[in-house]
Amino acid sequence: MAVSLVILSLKNSIMKIFLTVLITIVALTFLDILFIYSGIYNPGATSQNGNLIDWAVVTTKDHSIRSRVKEMTIPDLSDTLLVKEGFEHYDEMCVTCHGAPGMEESEIAQGLNPSPPELYKTTHHDPKVVFWGVKNGIKMTGMPAFGRTHSDEKIAAITAFVTQKLSQMSAEDYLAWRNSMHGEQEEGE
Ligand code: HEC
Repeated sequence: MAVSLVILSLKNSIMKIFLTVLITIVALTFLDILFIYSGIYNPGATSQNGNLIDWAVVTTKDHSIRSRVKEMTIPDLSDTLLVKEGFEHYDEMCVTCHGAPGMEESEIAQGLNPSPPELYKTTHHDPKVVFWGVKNGIKMTGMPAFGRTHSDEKIAAITAFVTQKLSQMSAEDYLAWRNSMHGEQEEGE
């Protein structure tokens, strides 16, 4: 008799826990959907950062990129010619958003949210993260995917320049490289 009473009350409490969990899940899902359709979230690039949605997006992105690059292999970056080739691509395609030594932040870069990091100010870049980011782009940030238009070899050159040279350049170095590149182009014409 006593045993069957214990089993009965155990069954009741399991049932109660199950129902509470279920009702909570349904209520939270409903609130999420209500929030999504309510128009409360301000998607403007000028809106203040730091709310729960921004945190969720940034944290998801950081962890997803980290787990994707873990097993990834990238082309060999040791060929010194790659750095020079990478500079040409960087100066053409990246400088507007990511800047370069001695250059003022562009109007495009100032208007982006999240703002593009000033890559030349960081001395250590993980080559795999740079390669992955340049190839695949980063959704909802303004960072384009260059893998649609550039081969892995070209992306390797860009990665070599960003990871091995960019942060060591002075404003004069950058300008000198730019001038020498244009000089070479004119000679070739
Ligand atoms: C239209 C603007 C734009 C252009 C052009 C652009 N980027 Fe970005 N890039 C961004 C933004 C914005 C982010 C920040 C993404 C974020 O917050 O996760 C970013 C992030 C990155 C990152 C990740 C940095 C980090 O450590 O979090 C790398 C590396 C990068 N870009 C490299 C490049 C290179 C190399 C090029 C040129 C081939 C380039 N980007 C062109 C806007 C741009």
